[in-house]
Amino acid sequence: MTLSEVRIIQLPKYEDVRGNLSILEGVNHIPFIIKRAYWIYDVPGGCIRGGHAFNEQHEFIIALSGSFDVIVDDGNNRKTFQLNRSYYGLYIPAKLWREMNNFSTNALALVTSSTLYDSKDYIVDYAKFTNTRRR
Ligand code: TYD
Repeated sequence: MTLSEVRIIQLPKYEDVRGNLSILEGVNHIPFIIKRAYWIYDVPGGCIRGGHAFNEQHEFIIALSGSFDVIVDDGNNRKTFQLNRSYYGLYIPAKLWREMNNFSTNALALVTSSTLYDSKDYIVDYAKFTNTRRR
């Protein structure tokens, strides 16, 4: 996987005087079946989340509220994506290092994942990650 496969995906947005509505359907809007969703909130200023890669898991991250940055790294290059709208998100394939920082007050990050939680899928050591990439 390379950084070129990481991409912002726009989601449908139904604008209405009563308020807007957006939708996320696995497979139709993002390239995987959603097996799990989790969300990150109440992040104290200056904190970093993530800081790992996955062997199998694909993810799609949306800023449902507020804003934050997602830094994606393929072992050679890094790219920063700012997420700040609830009608688009960032698709991250497996085997890429990623971190999340610059959380605004009241930021709410929704993460949909292609797998159930499995701590063995995590690569938490950056040196091991870069070695895995070279193999
Ligand atoms: P972690 O993935 O390390 O969070 P982040 O990548 O944002 O820093 O998860 C934090 C804790 O939550 C850790 O103890 C594992 C637990 N957890 C689950 O039990 N299930 C899950 O689906 C996730 C994402 C985390």
